[in-house]
Amino acid sequence: MKPDPAEFWNTRYAAPGFAYGEAPNDFLVEVADRIPAGPVLCLAEGEGRNAVFLAKRGHAVTAVDLSSVGLGKAKASAERAGVALTTVVANLASWPMPERAFAGVISIWAHLPTPERAALHARVARALVPGGVFVLEAYRPGQEQRGTGGPPNVELLMRAQELREELTGLEVVIAREVTRAIHEGQYHQGDSDVVQVLARRAAP
Ligand SMILES: C[S@@+](CC[C@H](N)C(=O)[O-])C[C@H]1O[C@@H](n2cnc3c(N)ncnc32)[C@H](O)[C@@H]1O
Repeated sequence: MKPDPAEFWNTRYAAPGFAYGEAPNDFLVEVADRIPAGPVLCLAEGEGRNAVFLAKRGHAVTAVDLSSVGLGKAKASAERAGVALTTVVANLASWPMPERAFAGVISIWAHLPTPERAALHARVARALVPGGVFVLEAYRPGQEQRGTGGPPNVELLMRAQELREELTGLEVVIAREVTRAIHEGQYHQGDSDVVQVLARRAAP
């Protein structure tokens, strides 16, 4: 029988502490100033470290994830930090994403199967307001050999060129493949092969 992904992630997040730490992702921190003021959507947000960071910067944040346990922890972190956070437990493959709604859409380690990912990225392009930006960091092929984090299944990894093609309608500002040291909680530790993207919806 195929394992239920929600159950996998709920079990991971049921452990005490934060699987990927409480600090926001490095690439998101690097480009956060380029997200215009306004609402932000965090895809596959897990335990909420990036959502809380963005809410503290003044964005109204919506976090979507399969895992009710992860988003419960995200909500509790937001309450401790004194910021608002809207959470939606849903599968991104079928979640009806609002259109022209967000100044930023953030995708940190959201590894969906390729056809679902491409369809998701087509919806992301429409979800941004003009001038809004998409921020992504994900593992790329090669990482499955390292054992320093990310899905072991190469089919869930992605390349900069594929992302460029999927993000039609957006102006790609950054699309780079880098190897960098990552230290995020228990599961992401060590030199890692990643792809980083910043793309913008043209202003009217
Ligand atoms: C490696 S974790 C990253 C969590 C968070 N973005 C972070 O950086 O801390 C991957 C997340 O993707 C979520 N996820 C995987 N497939 C999903 C899907 N189809 N729909 C919604 N969430 C999904 C999992 O529940 C998990 O929280």
